Amino acid sequence: MPKTPRSGPEAEDAALVFMPSGLRGRFPRGTALLAAARSLGVDIDSVCGGRGICGRCQVTVGDGDFAKLGIRSAPEHLHPLAANEIRFDARKGLQPGTRLSCSARLAGDVVIDVPAASQIHRQIMRKRTDARAIQVDPVVRPLYVDFEGIAGPDPADNLRAALQAQWGVEAILSGAAAAQLTGVEENLTVALREEKTVTAIWPGFREHLVGLSVDIGSTTLAAQLSNLGSGAILAEAGMMNPQIRFGEDVMSRVSYIMMNPGSEIELGEVIRRAVRDLAGQCAEQAGLERRDIVEITVVGNPIMHHIFLGLDAVPLGQAPFPLAEDGPLTIPAADLDLDLNPGAQVHVLPCIAGHVGADTSAVILSEAPQLSDEVVLLVDIGTNAEIVLGNRDRLLACSSPTGPAFEGAQISSGQRAAAGAIERVRIDPISLAPRFKVIGSDLWSDAPGFASSVAGIGVTGICGSGVIEALAEMFLCGLITVDGLVDPGKAALTPRLVRDGKTYCYLLHAGPPEIRIIQLDIRNIQLAKAAAYAGARLLMNKMGIEKVGKIVLTGAFGSYMDPKYAMILGLIPDCPLEQVSAAGNAAGTGARIALLNREARLEIAAVARGVEKIETALDPDFQDQFVGAMAFPHKSHPFPNLGKIVALPVPGNTGPGGRRGRRGRNQA
Ligand code: FES
Repeated sequence: MPKTPRSGPEAEDAALVFMPSGLRGRFPRGTALLAAARSLGVDIDSVCGGRGICGRCQVTVGDGDFAKLGIRSAPEHLHPLAANEIRFDARKGLQPGTRLSCSARLAGDVVIDVPAASQIHRQIMRKRTDARAIQVDPVVRPLYVDFEGIAGPDPADNLRAALQAQWGVEAILSGAAAAQLTGVEENLTVALREEKTVTAIWPGFREHLVGLSVDIGSTTLAAQLSNLGSGAILAEAGMMNPQIRFGEDVMSRVSYIMMNPGSEIELGEVIRRAVRDLAGQCAEQAGLERRDIVEITVVGNPIMHHIFLGLDAVPLGQAPFPLAEDGPLTIPAADLDLDLNPGAQVHVLPCIAGHVGADTSAVILSEAPQLSDEVVLLVDIGTNAEIVLGNRDRLLACSSPTGPAFEGAQISSGQRAAAGAIERVRIDPISLAPRFKVIGSDLWSDAPGFASSVAGIGVTGICGSGVIEALAEMFLCGLITVDGLVDPGKAALTPRLVRDGKTYCYLLHAGPPEIRIIQLDIRNIQLAKAAAYAGARLLMNKMGIEKVGKIVLTGAFGSYMDPKYAMILGLIPDCPLEQVSAAGNAAGTGARIALLNREARLEIAAVARGVEKIETALDPDFQDQFVGAMAFPHKSHPFPNLGKIVALPVPGNTGPGGRRGRRGRNQA
């Protein structure tokens, strides 16, 4: 028998059900919804402590029969709008059916919906459907207090008493926060860190706190300013790493420090100044000041990590690459001259090994292989490839020296991914003529209007993703062999293959400037891709597996690169292509997760400790893997999934255009 719906007026007390949690209870009429919610363990936000100021506690009341719950709910089953709500409505507006749960009181049975914006532990869904959601539960939160009835001689004692009385919090005041107290405040907002320390103070009411997450890459820095209450990104900024003037890659910067004693101070100041500038840019974009930032998380590779923190990075330049510090660190931002809020704290994620840094920890936090049943391969390609392999049972990590070829360095016509760089390449298998796309234009080079579309930017060079595609297409067309040699026999078939000293090169763009793929370019990409593949394969061998369940490419290059072409070259192991995805700046996302969720800091500290570190430089299997991985896609490893979607040339076949005798769909 279905229950007869109860109505409010007949009930002695009132039934209350919160949605979407489904938590329910019975309460005396007159009970405030927020108090009832807390007693049931429902997380409703509040900054002002129920004074009707912040509006963070808004809920909506159901209207109608809820047969499954056995309740008839109606707006009039709550007391009419309280004075606080009328004031708030006049100031900021309350939607019809919406109430401030701190002020609305029960008059009958109700079903109450708590929208995501009013939940303390709200979730942020990410664009990629397979990416873990971010739960907003930051380490620091705002609390509003007033001093009504509290008038002792010591302002700090008064604040502690107010926090105890109004929030039930036994707080201690940081020196920076205490220095901000004047003693004449009537009310103020504090930043409460880890539920115990007041780190910042503002006069009056302040609804939101903001924090910054920073990824210090050896080439670029990226920062995001987030609202610590909603988790929303308020501003983003990036810049080239100004340390580049001391050395193009991290190892050359370590060499610079070794050769110029004392220069580590300057390198550290340069990078901290860059972080400070990014904080200023983000704050300005959001209409704030740098002093409004109360928390910052930082990730970076081990050398960037050490230089940023003022630690000795020189030992990281040679085996066994010992870290001066590998655990997570929390230190005052003022100690690093970041010029944020005087009480702001910096949290730096843990490093994993001498070549596997806090940026890789952040990638793990973002992609969560430790929660996966299937084996996940994470590949972050820069001048090194940081590689993580594993699942919920076991995680392994290594770093493999790919060099700068994927960033366009060591490539004859190479350049960074910027306007004018060729980023996509196709070669007709019959005519062997190329067409391409450049960054800054949506048109292929053989499309009408291409010339005018690039009139302002030109075709200036080729970036890493363009080189990958050019080589893969050349390989598919038979212009280069599985061993990476330009096939001179093809010169008779196309004017694009032209002599270049003792060998041949492929003319991709007649110019100016002329853009060619020369034999040395191919060799440098072979070395880079073999390093990445050998690192991945080394970890697979350690784990005793022949295939992975899914591959995630991270970092800027990983996001630009087409996974199919990466697999044709054998940069990554064979895998169903639909199981290969690009995660963008996963290190930056991990830094943001650590900013927004305090549990995530504990999680990654524990996970990083448990990662098995594999040292590629010392492992003989790495060299063996490297040699076989020089071929396209590999000398001996089969690529059956790739063979289902691409007709791979048969080794030794020299048919015209490579079109005959390929390993077809069913042959690979
Ligand atoms: S708790 Fe601030 S308005 Fe209700």
